[in-house]
Amino acid sequence: MANAQLRRQFLKFLVASPLLGWTTAGRLLADEMLDTISLPDYLIKSPDEALDVFDFHNVARSVLPTAHYGYLATGTDGNETLKANRKAFDRVYLRAMRMVDTAAVSLDTRLLDEPLTSPIVLAPVGSQKAFHAEGELATARAARSQGHLQMLSNVTSTSIEDVIEARGEPVWFQFYPTNKWSTASTMLKRAEDAGAKVVVLTVDLNSGSNRVLLNQFIRVDERDCDVCHSPGPDGWLKTKPMYAGTGAVEADWDMSSMTWDYIDRLRDATRMKIVVKGVVTAEDAKSCIERGVDAIYVSNHGGRAEASGWGSLENLPEVVATVNGRVPVLIDSGFRRGTDIFKALALGADAVCIGRAYIWGLAAFGQAGVEKVLDMLRAELRMVMGQMGARSIADIGAEHIGARG
Ligand SMILES: Cc1cc2nc3c(=O)[nH]c(=O)nc-3n(C[C@H](O)[C@H](O)[C@H](O)COP(=O)(O)O)c2cc1C
Repeated sequence: MANAQLRRQFLKFLVASPLLGWTTAGRLLADEMLDTISLPDYLIKSPDEALDVFDFHNVARSVLPTAHYGYLATGTDGNETLKANRKAFDRVYLRAMRMVDTAAVSLDTRLLDEPLTSPIVLAPVGSQKAFHAEGELATARAARSQGHLQMLSNVTSTSIEDVIEARGEPVWFQFYPTNKWSTASTMLKRAEDAGAKVVVLTVDLNSGSNRVLLNQFIRVDERDCDVCHSPGPDGWLKTKPMYAGTGAVEADWDMSSMTWDYIDRLRDATRMKIVVKGVVTAEDAKSCIERGVDAIYVSNHGGRAEASGWGSLENLPEVVATVNGRVPVLIDSGFRRGTDIFKALALGADAVCIGRAYIWGLAAFGQAGVEKVLDMLRAELRMVMGQMGARSIADIGAEHIGARG
């Protein structure tokens, strides 16, 4: 310990020393050994300049209103789960298999009988007009041009009919239940009539979530929020097209009494396939299988549900083991790089969903930003597959990863 401190001090001295000078190479080397590379401040001016998805984050932070950035960036309590999501990737390392012909790597796969050109899926993110004037329509057009499956939140700022038209294909409809069944049945019928074949039931906010950090951003935003958000306790529902005609009020959102019986009710009410989003334990994966759900979606809502301090990638093995191949397993929360996606696939996920990463692209450059994020993630995944010696998604297996500790 004392040695490590001495080494740090010595390196700091070296960096500041005229002996070494402030050459980029010297500075980067020293910073890397100190584990804190300080990159130059730079905001990209077009999507083509992006080197990774974090370039979009920096632009998004600079262009978004304070409260909207807070809504996008924060998790619950002190961000314990959000941080755990990223740290979980560090504990899994990659095992490269050399000398495999990977000249032609394919990302093609299937999910619930649908052919997909990649296992990278757009997670449902509500209120996208808070991030860009074209909101969900820009996302849908990007999903269409890049060939990705899109999930649409039921708190979308654009109707499902318009989004499906822009996407050119059905989206998966994500659904927050309400305690008034008439709201559910009206909305489910509307999604089905619009062409959705899959409903994604989100179950991780039933008892609310402590968004204390979001409120820290809101209280310093000096704009008048009532100009866009209708005032009053139920005001926000008025801006959500999927709630039109349902008679819903905010109080209907208390779903704390919901149990697994809800799946049976849903099954009776719709022809859509049912995916349960927000599963993090083997116990709940077992309940999903017993209730006959069509797919399980491992997620902690990007660290926005409970402050468990438990990373989503860490939840995956017990869910995969319980499911044992009976239904597909999807995952999200914290995915930012091709290597992250590869690790989840190697742990047995069938698809990986991204949230903030594409919203950063949307906020920064609209449709073109989302397109570039998707393009980069595919390119990164293709590269790591080549490095690991996996020619196809089916080739990716447990032999390609190891775990620390
Ligand atoms: C701003 C924002 C809004 C979200 N809205 C919804 C939503 O309406 N429905 C839902 O099921 N999940 C929602 N999520 C969670 C995402 O679907 C996904 O689980 C999460 O973003 C994944 O983590 P990541 O952002 O680290 O990729 C939202 C996430 C964010 C960041």
